[in-house]
Amino acid sequence: MDSPAIRDRTVLVTGGAGFIGSHLVDALHPHNEVRVLDTFTTGDRAYLPEGVTVIDGDVRDPIAVQEAARGVDIIFHHAALVSVSQSVDAPRQSNETNLEASLLLLEQARQEDARVVVASSAAVYGHPDELPVSETARTNPTSPYGVQKLALDQYARLYEELYGLETVAFRYFNVYGPRQQGPYSGVISTFLEQARAGEPITIEGDGQQSRDFVHVSDVIRANLRAATTDAVGEAYNIGTGQRTTIEELAETIRDATGSSSPIVHREPRPGDIRHSGADTSKASRDLGFETRISLESGIRSLVGEGAATLPDEDTGPVQERQGSGSFS
Ligand code: UD1
Repeated sequence: MDSPAIRDRTVLVTGGAGFIGSHLVDALHPHNEVRVLDTFTTGDRAYLPEGVTVIDGDVRDPIAVQEAARGVDIIFHHAALVSVSQSVDAPRQSNETNLEASLLLLEQARQEDARVVVASSAAVYGHPDELPVSETARTNPTSPYGVQKLALDQYARLYEELYGLETVAFRYFNVYGPRQQGPYSGVISTFLEQARAGEPITIEGDGQQSRDFVHVSDVIRANLRAATTDAVGEAYNIGTGQRTTIEELAETIRDATGSSSPIVHREPRPGDIRHSGADTSKASRDLGFETRISLESGIRSLVGEGAATLPDEDTGPVQERQGSGSFS
């Protein structure tokens, strides 16, 4: 899937200094005027190339959102509290960022008549009745996070229907890759850190729960497609269709790092989904979305370079700043 060129547009990336957002900024810069709205709580300024306009502010703040969105053509909305367990511990706090702020942003997009690409989640499905799960499946979230993402996903569709705003919602499965870090980040980065440090690799529950891990570079290509597609007002699954159990993942990472960390089990996580796997035929049909990076090569590249690089056969040889990659 070659990404269509997006050029000479004014683009806002909320959460643009974060994991997915910063890779998207790399893909958009320097052919567009790129703005980043970020609190830098989990995001990092070091990820941002020179020439990007930075608004150090919160997506919950109407003034900051107004300033950031003024005159933009496209908004990629990646600012969020991404931790499912945090949402279980503090549902109102995550609701403010994941839902109320998103609504503020959709309203601002109406003012600017800007296209909006929102980050929804596989968490909207809860425990799917069938696997792989398609967009028409029953939605039944098991966490506040999933409820918030489902509401956002539905608002995006409704804003297209009611107000003619061009929206696309991406239901991300488990995204991983360079720059994913911190206490609330995904299981791959946690296991990698544990394996490298020689500490126990901590599986929550029996490890038989499964996930569909999709590399961030594939996610970026999908976002670039969303910027130009005519198929708006829709939600799309973004995953690979391949499921891996958490136990398999722990073993793969231990082997790939050559670590002697023991694999240990602790209590299962409240609100956790048992199995998750994407049917991506809708994104493939409407957006030409296809993944290029297998979990094996994605993990290999994370382990190999410590920081960031991707294998040449997957993306072509481009490496600049820390954690940078080429997703064109
Ligand atoms: C993840 C994303 C969420 C996204 C969703 C889509 C993160 C932090 N969350 O949630 O934003 O919308 O996918 O499906 O990326 N686990 C362990 N040990 C650990 C950490 C996790 O066993 O140390 C297990 C968890 O219990 C869970 C699985 O690994 O079963 C995945 O957990 P996690 O990476 O936090 O992602 P999700 O909860 O699936």
